Amino acid sequence: MTLQESILARHSVRQYIDKPIEVEKIQQMQDLIDECNREGGLHIQLVTDEPNAFSGGLAKYGKFSGIRNYIAMIGRKGDDENLGYYGEKVVLLAQTLGLNTCWVGLTFRKQPDKYKVLDEEKLVCVVSLGYGATQGVQHPQKKGFESYCKDARNEPGSYPEWFVNGMKAALLAPTAINQQKFEFVLHDGNKVEAKTRFTMLNGYAPIDLGIAKCHFEIGAGKENFEWE
Ligand SMILES: Cc1cc2nc3c(=O)[nH]c(=O)nc-3n(C[C@H](O)[C@H](O)[C@H](O)COP(=O)(O)O)c2cc1C
Repeated sequence: MTLQESILARHSVRQYIDKPIEVEKIQQMQDLIDECNREGGLHIQLVTDEPNAFSGGLAKYGKFSGIRNYIAMIGRKGDDENLGYYGEKVVLLAQTLGLNTCWVGLTFRKQPDKYKVLDEEKLVCVVSLGYGATQGVQHPQKKGFESYCKDARNEPGSYPEWFVNGMKAALLAPTAINQQKFEFVLHDGNKVEAKTRFTMLNGYAPIDLGIAKCHFEIGAGKENFEWE
């Protein structure tokens, strides 16, 4: 499965079956996490065989079950967009390995002895990981891609194909409460600016933006544009 295919196949999955993740898959995930931490200056950690974070009433309330593995998204202040960007790379790798995931901000219990949070770092959220009871379903698409982008070129025309492909991939990105409060602006010289749209409710907007940028980059092809 390619990364493009994994963007189409990925949906949030909240119920998991009791099937351990193979050692080789864990190693592949760990290798990418190490690379992301190096590149992004982050402290993302894989936690395996740990059922307690999702064993209480909160998890039940969130309709989560069977979770024994998760990815702890840990970084410093100001790292949230990067955590979204690099965290989603790990999520998409998981999908290519036949695993399922769900970003979770609220309905889990912190287990401080299962990962390391250094001074000035915080656990921002986790991503559940394992074999899903189902493959999940596509989230509702509220509007067409044009509602989430702008053409700021001196001579605006129709959007180039790579940009449209990027937008379509961004709209398949997971976002907290499926808010999709992001906007992609096309500038001259194939420069793309990504920003959050105003929302009262969503403290996760920077993470959502990072996730959407990861999708956009895969959909558009990194070689076709530059981030502004
Ligand atoms: C930063 C972030 C936090 C999230 N927190 C939760 C959560 O606490 N509980 C939950 O059930 N889903 C959570 N989600 C999953 C979203 O509800 C889900 O991604 C969205 O509805 C879109 O659905 P999809 O992932 O299937 O495309 C979160 C997603 C993100 C990106």
